[in-house]
Amino acid sequence: MSENPPIEVGANPADIARNRALGAGTIDDPYPRYDELRTSGPVHALSLSDAFDLGNMTGDFGAKGRTQFSCYDWKTVDTVLRDAETYSSESYALSLGAVIGRSMIQMDGPEHRRSRALIQPFFTRKDMEGWRQRWVQPAVDRILDEILSRGEPVDLYTELCAKLPVYTIASSFGVAPEDVGRFHELAVTQTGLTNSPQDRLRAAEEIADYLKDVIDLRRQEGGDDLIGVLCNVEMEDPEDGSPERLSDAEILAFARLMLPAGSGTTYRMLGCLLFALLESGQIDRVRGDADLLDAAIEECLRWEQPLTSVMRLVTRDTELSGVKIPEGSIIHASLAAANHDPARYHDPHLFDIDREKQPHATFGVGPHLCIGMHLARMEIRTAMAGILDRLPGLRIDPDQKKPWITGLLFRMPTAVPVVFNA
Ligand code: HEM
Repeated sequence: MSENPPIEVGANPADIARNRALGAGTIDDPYPRYDELRTSGPVHALSLSDAFDLGNMTGDFGAKGRTQFSCYDWKTVDTVLRDAETYSSESYALSLGAVIGRSMIQMDGPEHRRSRALIQPFFTRKDMEGWRQRWVQPAVDRILDEILSRGEPVDLYTELCAKLPVYTIASSFGVAPEDVGRFHELAVTQTGLTNSPQDRLRAAEEIADYLKDVIDLRRQEGGDDLIGVLCNVEMEDPEDGSPERLSDAEILAFARLMLPAGSGTTYRMLGCLLFALLESGQIDRVRGDADLLDAAIEECLRWEQPLTSVMRLVTRDTELSGVKIPEGSIIHASLAAANHDPARYHDPHLFDIDREKQPHATFGVGPHLCIGMHLARMEIRTAMAGILDRLPGLRIDPDQKKPWITGLLFRMPTAVPVVFNA
């Protein structure tokens, strides 16, 4: 548990309230407890909040009333996430799906594959240079221009990390630059588990109203941004093979999924990376060394993954690593504990950018492996290049409160206050 007073970590009030409810300022170092849980057995009849004595943490996502289990070692987490027949993503219907509509993240089997295949071609590694030039580099330049024109003191966490991913996704949808800030608030409100259902639905509706105008325009005039691509995608009706297009509702569900999936995660991750490189004094090592910067990004993804746990609905009575689990239960698979499993990583709690390469679980495993992982990595790389280039002599501001990483379901720095040589 944290010994620090309550903190305000987040980009706006909805974000701050959500972070607090999910353990920010309460759980600073969950790793010893993960070790304890992993050592005492692979599967526990505990929800994530029970495992940390957090009361009914809203992060247990509408699973209240169901029997809950959680697992903490690499092998068991990997088994759960690869076996979508037994461990279904329909679990998301209990939380995210209720607000954003049915989207690929809550689908399984052929329905999931079909839905994912529609947008996968837009997110390949080779598409990233196009994304960078069109949406990411302009966003990085604009944010750094704003920072430089305002001068110090700067909290890079709220002034850069929080803005970049949402600017990127929103511009890829065709949202006008002046509306991006409002979009950010709405994106956080729609998924904010501490907000009332009415507020969340209202935010989802406002996003839908805005995007419907973009969809109408793209249907009439075409366009090669993300909404334009989704409007024009052609597929076969699974029943009779006739050609069909996505409906407005399907496009909106895609778009409403992308906002939270692509923004909250990447912004926390970039914050953790800046914190880790600055705090450990290794920021100068990655300057001008693209390979080492990539290694630092991968290591930070493993060391402080922004989203620490995902949950699945158990579809049949089963046995997992020797523990019987009844149909209808929820299982929380801890990506964070898997990433710190000493059976897979030497000295796992250490941030070691020279570590030997070993895949991590941060983007998930199996059929739902994050579709935006190349985008997230490229955004982080582009942001770091801009920061290193335009903020020379970057260091933690010694006159501000010392930051630290906190949170249970999401991990994030409390702030990244910096000074640089203007
Ligand atoms: C560091 C940044 C990111 C992290 C840590 C992350 C993490 C994850 C994880 C763990 C999953 C799997 C969820 C599950 O199995 O239940 C996932 C899925 C997904 N992510 Fe990401 N993500 C990041 C960035 C992004 C970005 C930038 C986008 C797109 C704009 C994105 C879009 C998605 C989508 C659409 C899915 C669902 C895929 C499916 O159901 O097949 N993510 N992400």
